[in-house]
Amino acid sequence: MTVSTKPLDVCLQGLGRLEYRGYDSAGVACAAPGMDHVVWCKKAGRLSVLENELAKHPLPPAQTCIGHTRWATNGEPSDINAHPHISQDGKIALIHNGIIENANQLKFNLQSEGYNFVSQTDSEVAAKLLGKIANRIIEDTGKPDLFAAVRRLGKMLSGTFAILAIDVRQPDVVCAIRRDEPLVVGLGEDESFLASDVTAFVAYTKNALEIGQDNAVMIRGGRVEATDFDGNPVEARRFTVDWDASAVEKGGWDSFMDKEIHEDPASVRETLMGRFDLDGNIVLDELHIDESTLKNIDKITVVACGTASYAGFIAKYAIEHWVHIPVEVALAHEFRYRDPVLTPRTLVVAISQSGETMDTLMAIRHAREQDSKVLAICNTQGSSIPRESDAVLYTHAGPEIAVASTKAFVAQITACYLLGLYLAQVKGAMYRDEIHGVVQGLRAMPGKIQWVLEHDADVVKSTAIALVSRPAFLFLGRHVGYPVALEGALKLKEIAYAFTQGFAAGELKHGPIALVEEGVPVVVIVPSARQGNVLHDKVVSNIEEVKARGAYTIAVAEEGDPDVERYADVIFWRPQCPTLMSPLVDVVPLQLFAMDMANAKKLDVDKPRNLAKSVTVE
Ligand code: AGP
Repeated sequence: MTVSTKPLDVCLQGLGRLEYRGYDSAGVACAAPGMDHVVWCKKAGRLSVLENELAKHPLPPAQTCIGHTRWATNGEPSDINAHPHISQDGKIALIHNGIIENANQLKFNLQSEGYNFVSQTDSEVAAKLLGKIANRIIEDTGKPDLFAAVRRLGKMLSGTFAILAIDVRQPDVVCAIRRDEPLVVGLGEDESFLASDVTAFVAYTKNALEIGQDNAVMIRGGRVEATDFDGNPVEARRFTVDWDASAVEKGGWDSFMDKEIHEDPASVRETLMGRFDLDGNIVLDELHIDESTLKNIDKITVVACGTASYAGFIAKYAIEHWVHIPVEVALAHEFRYRDPVLTPRTLVVAISQSGETMDTLMAIRHAREQDSKVLAICNTQGSSIPRESDAVLYTHAGPEIAVASTKAFVAQITACYLLGLYLAQVKGAMYRDEIHGVVQGLRAMPGKIQWVLEHDADVVKSTAIALVSRPAFLFLGRHVGYPVALEGALKLKEIAYAFTQGFAAGELKHGPIALVEEGVPVVVIVPSARQGNVLHDKVVSNIEEVKARGAYTIAVAEEGDPDVERYADVIFWRPQCPTLMSPLVDVVPLQLFAMDMANAKKLDVDKPRNLAKSVTVE
């Protein structure tokens, strides 16, 4: 492969595509034949800062290039702490995702051998160590072998890592190793790509390879070699990205979040697509868990974080109702530090949009050690959580770029419902016609979500603008409306930086009502009044209670509700639908509300401060 600006261009474009994952600095490094040392550039701040620096001080054409956006774990965001990090002799550049837990010891040993460090990062320790290993290999064998060097490095590190490295002595190769951190290979014609997410290279190829745990990989032009850390070749699973590069473009929308909220209907529809036979029975052959095992499941434990955990919480109400087995929802980061009761008859369901959330990954490892079956509900092909699960039920929301999860959330609920109905079908917990009836309700939801998007947009936006300066918001709900209230509170918190509290409406009198005073906005998810739903009247009473204390009440209510207009200051209407389906429409105005509030505050809707799209550290 000749030298050109393409390697650098591809890296910068790929970093741009990964901006949504959250970062605070960025950098690139290149290698070309004849170079005496790697050339690099790295800057704190947005990618545009790096690009401006490169415009002023261009890097020379290269044969290989690596690029990195850093979300600081140790060492503050700065030029010095940005990646890439360079070996002592300047021959090697390295970039790293993860945390190296034995970095201090390794650094101490290297310092005692005269190595100098300029940054506060664990990643620089890996770079200096790799340089030492690479030079030792050259001394021993007379020639450079970066692939052998990175494998040896992998065996010396403890902690989590996805590491990429280039060496000017082998300017045509890029080598990588991974443990727990995401890494995928893109397979081009006479070129290959390495990235933490297929989004980075999908514009060049949709053919990809998963890289397994404790594996090393070397790419050279169109050639890819994968081994374990001992150098034994390993089979890497190929897959094809099932969406187009255009899916990661804004496509005329003001923000990815706006685009993705408006993809809520398609996200539900696509997740349902292809999962029924001609008789309307649910077909989930992709699970690869035999029916006898599923019949034997006597408990479900959901492990997830944030929005994904609220999807699991909603699913709990539905699955317990349909399948009559207990469904426990555990925050993944709490799960393995208590003694969860897990048996071979427990189905652990890991819900994750990114498939890379370290808390959730660690939780499923714990579950598998207890011989429980693990099923992933995930939106990202080839990611770590599905790879380490017994089965996966992919959501088909398409890539979700905005940090705040919206379309993936409704897809997660849909996938959980499919799983619950499939269990009911396999276990005979429901009659087939009952299941078909519920499925019919589910299939109607994309149209109902679309109705909300078309009918509520203006009232939601005007309400958000009117309340833009309110410092705190309460969100109340009952039954499946309770996790919706939690999700609505999280959305407003994470992108409009408003202080919010979501809680069960029945909890109001047990403390939270003390927060209610004149003008406090209270968002209430109101259950349907139809079929004499007792919860409806209770929630209307809750609205009266807060109204009587001066609250500004915002109700999310079903069309035709006979009472809510008497007490709510503003109503976000949604179409009639079965109670268990209502979260799919109740959440939509709350997604819009958070986005409109963030826009009114002129905040970065897609990349909120301090947050990353995929939290790959515990
Ligand atoms: C969603 O709006 C949040 N950004 C966050 O809570 C997210 O849902 C959580 O970090 C889990 O991510 P995952 O679905 O990729 O595992």
